[in-house]
Amino acid sequence: MSDTSTSPTFYITTPIYYVNGEPHLGSTYTTTVADVLARYHRLYGQDARFLTGTDEHGDKIALLAAANGETPKALTDRISGVFREMWPRFGIAPDDFIRTTEQRHKRVVQRILQDVYDRGDIYFGEYGGLYCVGCERFYTEKELVDGRCPQHGTVPDYIREQNYFFRMGRYQQWLVDLLTAHPETVRPEQYRRELLAFLREPLEDLCISRPKSRLTWGITLPFDEDYVTYVWFDALINYISALDYPDGELYRRYWPGEHLVAKDILKPHGIYWPCMLQAAGIPMYRHLNVHGYWTIGGVKGGKSDRTELQEAERRAARRLFRDPVALADLLGADGMRYCLLREMAFGSDLDFTRDLLVTRYNADLANDLGNAANRTVSMIGRYCGGEVPDPGAETPVDRDLRDEACAVPGRVWEHIGAMQPHLALGEAIGLAQRVNRYFEDKKPWSAFKAGDTEGVATTLYYAAETLGIAASLLLPAMPTRMLELRRALGLGDQPPSTAGGWGHLDPGTPVARETRLFPRIERE
Ligand code: MSP
Repeated sequence: MSDTSTSPTFYITTPIYYVNGEPHLGSTYTTTVADVLARYHRLYGQDARFLTGTDEHGDKIALLAAANGETPKALTDRISGVFREMWPRFGIAPDDFIRTTEQRHKRVVQRILQDVYDRGDIYFGEYGGLYCVGCERFYTEKELVDGRCPQHGTVPDYIREQNYFFRMGRYQQWLVDLLTAHPETVRPEQYRRELLAFLREPLEDLCISRPKSRLTWGITLPFDEDYVTYVWFDALINYISALDYPDGELYRRYWPGEHLVAKDILKPHGIYWPCMLQAAGIPMYRHLNVHGYWTIGGVKGGKSDRTELQEAERRAARRLFRDPVALADLLGADGMRYCLLREMAFGSDLDFTRDLLVTRYNADLANDLGNAANRTVSMIGRYCGGEVPDPGAETPVDRDLRDEACAVPGRVWEHIGAMQPHLALGEAIGLAQRVNRYFEDKKPWSAFKAGDTEGVATTLYYAAETLGIAASLLLPAMPTRMLELRRALGLGDQPPSTAGGWGHLDPGTPVARETRLFPRIERE
């Protein structure tokens, strides 16, 4: 398994979202993380590809369409369109958007089913079990809580029928060995341990079909006309059908890639998918990156009233959770991207409130970054005629700042490689904080009064250069505002070709007179 940071290509995917609901804070977070990662990998010189899309087959969608009095096709076209059009509003730019109802996807699902069938890993049998439509899976008695689905709180239906099964058990030991030999495959570590704990019990074979007598909204099995494919076996394949597996140029170039999911779908991604890949003779993915839940009052997605929060606060949180466009209106798309990624420690749950993000926005963006930017350009205007000054001799204090500005890009890249985006952003924003402290140390306003024009020029050049590096390192999270900041500093309209490096600024280049990047937001 090769290391992401040394590979020339990088391929990142989000879960493909069910079209039984519209984008909310949870799916927006995952998709934003994927977008920011793709941009970081490009900034650091890799050829990155980012895929998202929609999961459109299965009981759940068929039932919802019937309840709405529309065809599944009409429903999926409509909601899939909502997802596709929503992402660009948050600066999210996937390279491809896949729908499981597309022909290019169906073709690959059938091909893989046939391959696995031909290898003898799919057999016909009978099974009775408790089925949750919300999860699209069977549950064992042990997994239920008071006889109810732990995710949906509903009582599952008992279903007995003849179906096709995938011999997943054959790959159990292979998977245990892989997760043991390559611990970085599933991260953070707690989720790898969860998978290994689960794999201590014998792995049951996976039911991968549904009879058409019960459900027709799915992909027909290539070896039996009377059955459609189980929605998870269908959906997981999107990650490679979008690359035109097996012969496509994209597949050759980008696979193996890595996945981004929340912990709700750890098992399909950490168990079914690796076994499917292995059974089909396809190389294993590089990493499964698992994040926690955004909760409201401790409950996933705020779906319950049993919360600790004040009623009004909970209502506000729920409104914003369900309506990410309103959140982007509040914080700006860039502000929302930054705050979501900076605030959530990747892998852990986090309770969402309006003030959580507003506080982060005011502290890091309005205050630290906004002030550093404003002070820098306005002092260049006042003391240096509005042009990038020519630096003079370097003092130890200048030297410290330069050393820090040159070290941070390496640390950011390490955090990105380790899937710790919150720490990467913390390092980058730290440079803006560092510039504010540098001003307090060097007091260019006093140096100006004392007639030390060379000292003032050096200070402002060093501050602007450091801020330019911060802007480049924050660009993946805030593509619009950071390009504005770079332009204000005289770094031009083009995104930087590399992260880091000192000496990008040309003395004599005009600098903006002021910046208005992040207006303060009132707390409620
Ligand atoms: N269709 C399947 C995935 C198939 S992938 C081959 C599915 N869809 S989903 O619409 O339910 O999306 C689940 C994903 O949405 C989570 O894994 C996560 O990325 C995101 N989130 C949904 N609610 C969330 C939170 N409350 N918090 C964080 N992420 C959340 O499962």
